[in-house]
Amino acid sequence: MTRLIGISGSLRRGSFNTALLRAAATLLPAEAALEIRTLHDIPLYDADLEAAAGLPAAVSALKEAVVGADGVLLATPEYNNGIPGVFKNAIDWLSRPPADIPRVFAGKPIALMGASPGPFGTVLSQAAWLPVLRTLGTSPWFGGRLMLAHAAEAFDAALAIKDSATQDRLRSFLAGFVSAVRHTQR
Ligand SMILES: Cc1cc2nc3c(=O)[nH]c(=O)nc-3n(C[C@H](O)[C@H](O)[C@H](O)COP(=O)(O)O)c2cc1C
Repeated sequence: MTRLIGISGSLRRGSFNTALLRAAATLLPAEAALEIRTLHDIPLYDADLEAAAGLPAAVSALKEAVVGADGVLLATPEYNNGIPGVFKNAIDWLSRPPADIPRVFAGKPIALMGASPGPFGTVLSQAAWLPVLRTLGTSPWFGGRLMLAHAAEAFDAALAIKDSATQDRLRSFLAGFVSAVRHTQR
């Protein structure tokens, strides 16, 4: 079994990025599972808070979920052509303390995907993640790209993907990533 953790960078109830992860969970190849996490309980990073009390429980839980996963799927919105602060903040917490970075991130297969109501489907936000993934020593997967543009039209009222072509794109993206993750497990 290949175990993925999917993290949504949006707190919004009707988030297209969380919906993309929910769709992904139904389109995985056989013998793969996706556990979806959101960032609602992660506080703003504050070095004073860290010095006084260590990592908040929600941060430790997410960190250990990443450690235990075979691969990580980041579903990133795009804000002002960059990474939403909520999402970057969570990854910054996960990089604490620095001595733990190798245990959490080194060589970790990570794939980026994203959805936006605009025409570019988070291309700039995905690019903005690259220096972060590099700094943390992850193993980002570049074998496919999933940018879901015009997201407001792509999902129905229940936030399911409407058309089979989009489902096929997501299925094949996931198949590629899972296959790459399995190579690292050998
Ligand atoms: C502060 C802010 C900045 C945004 N900037 C961009 C942007 O640069 N590019 C883009 O495609 N969408 C942008 N959007 C629109 C988001 O893509 C849209 O709100 C999207 O639904 C967020 O993802 P979610 O549905 O997962 O919450 C922005 C939204 C906000 C609130």
